[in-house]
Amino acid sequence: MSNSDTASIRPALPDDAPRLVALQAAYLLGEGGQGQADSASGFLVSGYDEDRYRHFAAVADHFYVGEEDGRVIAFVLAMNSERIAEATPGHQVNHWLLEQYPRPFTLISQVCVAPEAASGGWGRELYNVVRQLAAGRPQFAAIVLDPPNEPSVRFHERVGFHKAFETVGHDGRPRGIWARDLPGCPQS
Ligand SMILES: CC(C)(COP(=O)(O)OP(=O)(O)OC[C@H]1O[C@@H](n2cnc3c(N)ncnc32)[C@H](O)[C@@H]1OP(=O)(O)O)[C@@H](O)C(=O)NCCC(=O)NCCS
Repeated sequence: MSNSDTASIRPALPDDAPRLVALQAAYLLGEGGQGQADSASGFLVSGYDEDRYRHFAAVADHFYVGEEDGRVIAFVLAMNSERIAEATPGHQVNHWLLEQYPRPFTLISQVCVAPEAASGGWGRELYNVVRQLAAGRPQFAAIVLDPPNEPSVRFHERVGFHKAFETVGHDGRPRGIWARDLPGCPQS
């Protein structure tokens, strides 16, 4: 968040949807996306369309954007465990996690910072917002292990996450589940 006078974090609105689609497009791996597994900033394997983001703006528990000079340059999409079944039907990793950890938690579904704003603290600030709203619940984030998303792993570990589980997604790609504020795990 380079300039705190013009930078702010606010809830995502349905009208943000086109901009969020454009932001994620910079990082989507394969199938027309510009993302690369060897990028220094990490990548996303699945994206949402505008209708889906509009829907999330209405139902997601924690859906926030970072804005600078009136332009959205980052976002985080997260939801509480009670919301997952209805908000992400058929999402194999999310449903596996619900079975694996049948206590209240918050799942970070997507985080994305515009390439021009990377390493400016937006990711950490957005995760701070989610942590505050999670109010003591553990927070989980799934990271693709093959191809490895090392930048994402490093980011998550710098902001206090540790690898907790491993599973496989509907696409056959293995996922590591990183966690923060998990009872019994080191805190930071
Ligand atoms: C990963 C991502 C969210 C990081 O956001 P960011 O705003 O650049 O991160 P921050 O500036 O808040 O950095 C927070 C910490 O993580 C570290 N970090 C961030 N990106 C890193 C990277 N690519 N490599 C190594 N460390 C990184 C920073 O050094 C910082 O640590 P420090 O404060 O101790 O110095 C962003 O690069 C991104 O959107 N990547 C593409 C999408 C993606 O991979 N999402 C995650 C999918 S699971």
